[in-house]
Amino acid sequence: MENAIRNLQQEISEYELTSMKDIEAFRLRFTVRKGLIAGLFGQLKSVLPADKPRMGQLLNQLRQTADDKLAAATAELASVESKKEPALDLTLPGRRSFIGSEHPVQKVLGEMKAIFSSMGFSIATGPELELDHYNFDLLNFPPDHPARDMQDTFFITRGNANGDVLLRTHTSPVQIRVMLDQKPPIRVICPGKVYRNEAISSRSYCVFHQLEGLYIDKGVSFADLKATIYSFAHQMFGSDVKLRFRPSFFPFTEPSAEVDVTCYLCGGKGCRVCKKSGWLEIMGCGMVHPNVMRNCGIDPEKWSGYAFGMGVDRTVLLRYKIDDIRLLFENDVRMLQQFPA
Ligand code: PHE
Repeated sequence: MENAIRNLQQEISEYELTSMKDIEAFRLRFTVRKGLIAGLFGQLKSVLPADKPRMGQLLNQLRQTADDKLAAATAELASVESKKEPALDLTLPGRRSFIGSEHPVQKVLGEMKAIFSSMGFSIATGPELELDHYNFDLLNFPPDHPARDMQDTFFITRGNANGDVLLRTHTSPVQIRVMLDQKPPIRVICPGKVYRNEAISSRSYCVFHQLEGLYIDKGVSFADLKATIYSFAHQMFGSDVKLRFRPSFFPFTEPSAEVDVTCYLCGGKGCRVCKKSGWLEIMGCGMVHPNVMRNCGIDPEKWSGYAFGMGVDRTVLLRYKIDDIRLLFENDVRMLQQFPA
């Protein structure tokens, strides 16, 4: 018995406790209820009565030594851990996150949409990849109309079963799709990108934005069209701008007009932007041609309507004094960062 105690004493004093794992192994081997020390206590019963007090004392000392060693090692390890560098360095500067902002084109489009929404127009959208049928035929373009020419239109594939596939040259095909889909009364605006094969310069690009509108109901007249355009222009360009309607031609409207506003940069006096004329052209418009209505299954004897269409990008350039339309499409961050949210 005494030997066993001395051996254990030796083992405990030599035991190295440097990690949590060592400490746990030590605890399981020596100090738990089923450990070696408890085992020796169990053997006390069979010791001669005369030796019992001494053996008991030795065993108590042994247990104390083991407990002390365990407590000291645990405390030591905890203090080492707490002095270590934290894994997370709270003194590092934070990572900057960049907040995006609305593109200037979307800002202006948003204003335009809000004005027309307040007048009861809802928003319709359609595909940018269109069929010739919707982009031209149903809009009453004669088969030999120059706008179908390769110079203006980006054709994707020609001569399919459903006709030529092209990039829409205006958003009017969306209005066709709405007329084919819905019964009058119809009151929609169609904002979106359109594509034209034009010489690229600071003033024109192969893609730009349009916002077109369509209103069909009973007894709609040119006076309704004028009232709508006046209201829009005064909200968009300022209540003091004057408007003029010039006779014009579009295959899908009759009569047709082009609308100018007094140049809101020089107040109509004449400047570089309005080319000394005092006027800026803002849109085309007219009464929906009876052929277009018939093409879409709407009876022109019963219903009448107006349509209008305008470019958005020109207004963006004037509003923000940007002198090159290409900047609107290049997504150069140095330009976009000048329009914070
Ligand atoms: N679709 C015409 C264009 O792109 C604009 C327009 C729309 C003109 C509606 C009159 C009526 O030029």
